Amino acid sequence: LHIDWDIIMAEKGGYEHFMLKEIHEQPRAYRDTMLSRIGEGSETTLSEIQLTPERIKSIGSIHMVACGTAYHAALVGKAVIERLTRIPVEVDVASEYRYRQPVIKENTLVIAVSQSGETADTLAAMREAKLNGAQVLAITNVVGSSVAREADHVLFTWAGPEIAVASTKAYTSQLIAIYLLALHLSQTLNTTDALARAELIQGLKKLPEQVESMLEDTRQVQRIAQELSGVSDLFFIGRGLDQMVALEASLKLKEISYIHSEAYAAGELKHGSLALIEDGTPVIALATQEHLLEKTISNVKEVKARGGHVIAVALSGNMPIAGTADDVLYVPRTHALLTPALSVVPLQLLAYYTALAKGNDVDKPRNLAKSVTVE
Ligand code: G6P
Repeated sequence: LHIDWDIIMAEKGGYEHFMLKEIHEQPRAYRDTMLSRIGEGSETTLSEIQLTPERIKSIGSIHMVACGTAYHAALVGKAVIERLTRIPVEVDVASEYRYRQPVIKENTLVIAVSQSGETADTLAAMREAKLNGAQVLAITNVVGSSVAREADHVLFTWAGPEIAVASTKAYTSQLIAIYLLALHLSQTLNTTDALARAELIQGLKKLPEQVESMLEDTRQVQRIAQELSGVSDLFFIGRGLDQMVALEASLKLKEISYIHSEAYAAGELKHGSLALIEDGTPVIALATQEHLLEKTISNVKEVKARGGHVIAVALSGNMPIAGTADDVLYVPRTHALLTPALSVVPLQLLAYYTALAKGNDVDKPRNLAKSVTVE
């Protein structure tokens, strides 16, 4: 499989900023990342990775290492891979990994996630893993990058060149690659039955269209962004996979809008951060994990009782949340494990339009670089 990156794609293509263009390119990036890796049925074929069934069966643990947005994709990865394969997964910020003397064994599979494939800390973590005899699998967006060259196995995300410093389509393509990898491992290990895998694959196939539908009308997000552009602090909360997306949404907002924001596991609120909620404090509550909905709603009520202004992100048709939150951004219904690939989209747009309303340089935020090649 080889997809050429057309030079024209590297231009803004009619969009005001690269970031907006890249957000809109996500349906295409999802399709390309899935292309030829999902067959007609419920099988996944990752022919480019040379992990033999014997080797897959011998994996004792998985370590995921990454920085920034890629780290947030890895956090989703842990939840998904553990659920599907029952292999224990640890996730480390790459800059911490080699200094904590991680327990790396020959049957440890280390997964490095990096858009650019050139992040110094991620490379150093990979080298540490190899030195200790582990196999390294890279998930990267750049063919020929250092990460791709040094890894034992490479799973490319076909997001195409990402120019905006704030990562969008690379993150969601990493999610797609991780879903495919988890399915592939579980297929070999027989840890998830064929029906459950087929359901996930059906869900994956629908994602591009669902993202397209979300991008059709962004007026509600734009209105909320206008309101948020004047605030100085903001909180994101969520449970389960929603918490991982909350971390990414918070990072996105910080990077380009310069608004202070923090993301919490919703259940942790009452252990400290609830003290920060006062009249009008905006709280973005992700509530797509419907098996945890009741608990998330009770957290939303805690925030409301202190005067917080709650904007929820929920699956379409979720009425209980509408009765509690001040505003709801609905996303199309999907498989519970796939919600991050949809729920992050309105929050990427929210960060974008908030930064735009503040007149910031969206594509080149202050103090940040697209690729950090020094430690
Ligand atoms: C920089 C970028 C982030 C990115 C991180 C990791 O900080 O600004 O957007 O997530 O590096 O980059 P990588 O290329 O390894 O995914």
